[in-house]
Amino acid sequence: MNTAQFLVKSDLKFVDKASYTWQTPSNIALVKYWGKHNPQIPKNASISFTLNNCHTITTIDFVKQQKSDIANFDLFFEGKEKEEFKPKIAEFFNRIEAYCPYIFDYKMIINSENSFPHSSGIASSASGLSAISMCLMSLEQEMNPNLSSEFINKKASFLARLGSGSASRSIEGPLVVWGKHPDIEGSSDLFGVQFPNKVHPIFSNYQDVILLVDKGEKQVSSTIGHNLMHNHPYAENRFKQANENLGKMATILQNGDIESFINLVESEALTLHAMMLTSNPYFILMKPNTLEIINRIWEYRQEKNSNICFTLDAGANVHVLFPQKEKENILQFIENELSKFCQKKQYICDEAGFGGKQI
Ligand code: PMV
Repeated sequence: MNTAQFLVKSDLKFVDKASYTWQTPSNIALVKYWGKHNPQIPKNASISFTLNNCHTITTIDFVKQQKSDIANFDLFFEGKEKEEFKPKIAEFFNRIEAYCPYIFDYKMIINSENSFPHSSGIASSASGLSAISMCLMSLEQEMNPNLSSEFINKKASFLARLGSGSASRSIEGPLVVWGKHPDIEGSSDLFGVQFPNKVHPIFSNYQDVILLVDKGEKQVSSTIGHNLMHNHPYAENRFKQANENLGKMATILQNGDIESFINLVESEALTLHAMMLTSNPYFILMKPNTLEIINRIWEYRQEKNSNICFTLDAGANVHVLFPQKEKENILQFIENELSKFCQKKQYICDEAGFGGKQI
């Protein structure tokens, strides 16, 4: 694996001050990543839709200082200083030190906000860490204008991955693969790549309505969940299956076989949760309303001959996926039949998007 390509090779022209703002989205995996080894290398390849409306906006103000041994930064979330978020970000800066040594030459003031409600159960690590990574790459580019935009995206994904694996899939869109896979040209364990083949139009502007079933803190973090895949009795078969599923998904995305898409996406979601149920210690992140919603989706699909389906992240919320042409009917179904299973009847309408934007 060629990590040397991400080291800073040329002399940087340091600037005294700089400020960059990036908006980067969350993503939802169709074939899931669950299980990794050091340093943040996935046990299998995964693919996700990049989202559009669920995003983080982050500004970093950089002010040149004497080089320090530890990253010097203040962190504000939605206008308030957040000491409790700092250790994770400090650890991230330490992990990327070899690739971004210049961050220790700056005092950084980080201001971040999410478009989705705070503690909605929507993972903000993917959008949060990809936004910080893009801000760092903007600084690096200012100090080394020879960098291509292709390299900037690749390195930003590489850096984001070191903070949170799935964050590597939040730089570009609408479909990103992370993890080396024989069917995906250019794929790598080190960074996400855009799905390289032509995608069938049925998957254009694919819709994702996120039903907020449980907005509380997860009882088991994804870090702990990934670790429980070590010595898990089904782990090796799961990693093999996920890689096979990614091969199948690559074909489906090109030929538009929506029935196979639905089958694969739902099976992936339930398999992810089956891994949690069969970990030791075991745990359950679904809630009774998660299952209510799944059953209603299945009934609706049968009765209306619809292409609606669901997927799940590491939590109780349900992502309802469907083609754009069914939007009107399915939004009505969600409002009338599913919103009652959400906390405060809340849900978020989103769709596949195109990745980070500098603001
Ligand atoms: O990126 P992490 O470490 O938060 O793991 C995310 C794992 C899942 O969201 C459950 C699946 C995925 O591929 O996004």
